Amino acid sequence: MPKSEIGPCALAVAPKDRAAIKSQRPRCIWLTGLSGAGKSALGNALEVQLNQQGLHTCLLDGDNLRRGLCRDLGMDAEARKENIRRIGEVARLMVDAGLIVIVAAISPFRADRETARKLFPQGVFLEVYVSTPFEVCAQRDPKGLYREARAGRIKNFTGLDSPYEAPLSPDCEIDTSEVELAQAVGRLSALLQKE
Ligand code: ADX
Repeated sequence: MPKSEIGPCALAVAPKDRAAIKSQRPRCIWLTGLSGAGKSALGNALEVQLNQQGLHTCLLDGDNLRRGLCRDLGMDAEARKENIRRIGEVARLMVDAGLIVIVAAISPFRADRETARKLFPQGVFLEVYVSTPFEVCAQRDPKGLYREARAGRIKNFTGLDSPYEAPLSPDCEIDTSEVELAQAVGRLSALLQKE
């Protein structure tokens, strides 16, 4: 893909001015983990809680984005890299607009998550490792994908024939097979309240 030659255009209203109107600290809380780990459930429950507190949020869910913005992308390593690049850039725009953004995407590669982190000012990007073990995810198999992948009908399936690189030092780790949803949401809201 050619690099853009276009220089940036100076914007008169700064991100902090937009955030000030919303009286909130914009953040990107990034949930990474295997398919079926509970990222979407956790992201949804967190967004409900923040919404009820009167905070302005947006949930970017991998499954949903793959029906729109990322519908042209497959599941090989290059496509996942591009998927995460797009999600990171969209999250960054939304954070600049003053929102608390929750991302729920497998985002299996460490380097791609690091690239996303670097889009944000220090302390804005919070990486949450939804560390539910593979066996539990495969057992839950909410969409029947593990069964399909094991039968060879889905290629490049994360945890089977495509790798998942766990975060080395996540801001928070939650195994949804051990922690109740309400408690997990409590931990994430506490994380958001930390300066
Ligand atoms: S990512 O790896 O690029 O971050 P993303 O979170 O957007 O993935 O999408 C993952 C979703 O696509 C899963 O929740 C699952 O429903 C679906 N899916 C389809 N094929 C695969 C596959 N080969 N590996 C993992 N998930 C898949």
